[in-house]
Amino acid sequence: MKALLLLGGFGTRLRPFTINTPKALLPIVNYPFIAYQFELLRKYEIKEVVLGVGYKGDEFKRVIDIGKNMGIKIYLSYEKKPLGTGGGIKNAEKFLKGKEPFFVFNGDVLADFNLEKILTFHIEKNAYITIGMIKVPDPSSYGLILTDDEMKIIKFIEKPKKEEIVTDTVNAGVYVFQPEVLEEIPENKEVSVEKETFPQILQKGKNMFGYIHYGYWLDVGTIDKFKKGNFDLIDGKIELLYKKSEENIEKKDNVLIGDNVIVEGKLIADENAIICENSKFKGKVIIGKKSFIGKNCLIENSIIFENVFIGDECIIENSIIGESVIIRNNCIVKNSAVGDNSFINQFSKFSE
Ligand code: GDD
Ligand code: MG
Repeated sequence: MKALLLLGGFGTRLRPFTINTPKALLPIVNYPFIAYQFELLRKYEIKEVVLGVGYKGDEFKRVIDIGKNMGIKIYLSYEKKPLGTGGGIKNAEKFLKGKEPFFVFNGDVLADFNLEKILTFHIEKNAYITIGMIKVPDPSSYGLILTDDEMKIIKFIEKPKKEEIVTDTVNAGVYVFQPEVLEEIPENKEVSVEKETFPQILQKGKNMFGYIHYGYWLDVGTIDKFKKGNFDLIDGKIELLYKKSEENIEKKDNVLIGDNVIVEGKLIADENAIICENSKFKGKVIIGKKSFIGKNCLIENSIIFENVFIGDECIIENSIIGESVIIRNNCIVKNSAVGDNSFINQFSKFSE
């Protein structure tokens, strides 16, 4: 069976980090996010995966080998201009068409979907399209889906206004499509599958069903949710690719940790990271490859990407520090998102 990942969005809600890197390649516990989606596909023996890319599409070439090492063959389907979610699916037609149904995923959802159950449900219901759904406390930023008692879809309300919120069940960003669905989407045109294709197909009276997922689910597309995705994996709220451990410090090869470093909580350090003496870590802290933390720092609940330099006596709290950032001595950075390549001079104070 084949799967398509929709990866062409600009990731505007994850700026500044998506200015250099597409959303699905940002690091989650030191792996590019897309590796978690590959892992889910590998688990269910889906071995051919199409990446529907646009914005910074060439960056995805670097994950072809990650897929290969997981036994997954990766194809790239490029969009010269953004075609929307529907247009992105149509654009990948040549990779997807055939007799079998295929999966489509939004490329920013961290979830432990049971793909076998979703597919069995799709076949049993003789569905044209099956949409994975999730119940969320605040559905306002998602696509509401109303179903009848048999789980047949009766209405879509994408990004509802306050007064339109009549259910807590939303589109979870995973679909099973019969191959004929491809014929419903016009070519070379910007189309939203949620706002246009789905309601149109529903109006034609085709069988569309919703399957509720009761496991872990998170759209990592905002700064807060991106942070939450990292921390939930560490807490073992979802088990995928990263395995929770009881160790205080998890370090990859060649990590150097100086004397008297205190870890109250969890510190995860990727290859060649250096942490100098007397620094203290609280809550959850993730440090990327080759990053350097000076002496006497206090770092709490933060994510530090690759190749970062943090000088002595710095306080970093509830923040994400982008790739190749330099923060000189005695800085305080709280509740902040510091974009790649920033230079922060000594004694600076940042707090949202
Ligand atoms: N190929 C391609 N081309 N992909 C695109 C394009 C495009 O033009 N535009 C967006 N995408 C990708 C994004 O990269 C992302 O992985 C996915 O499509 C969904 O886009 P988002 O921008 O993240 O949408 P959303 O989160 O506001 O809403 C969607 O996801 C919700 C669940 O997380 C909708 O599908 C909602 O109905 C749903 O509830
Ligand atoms: Mg999203």
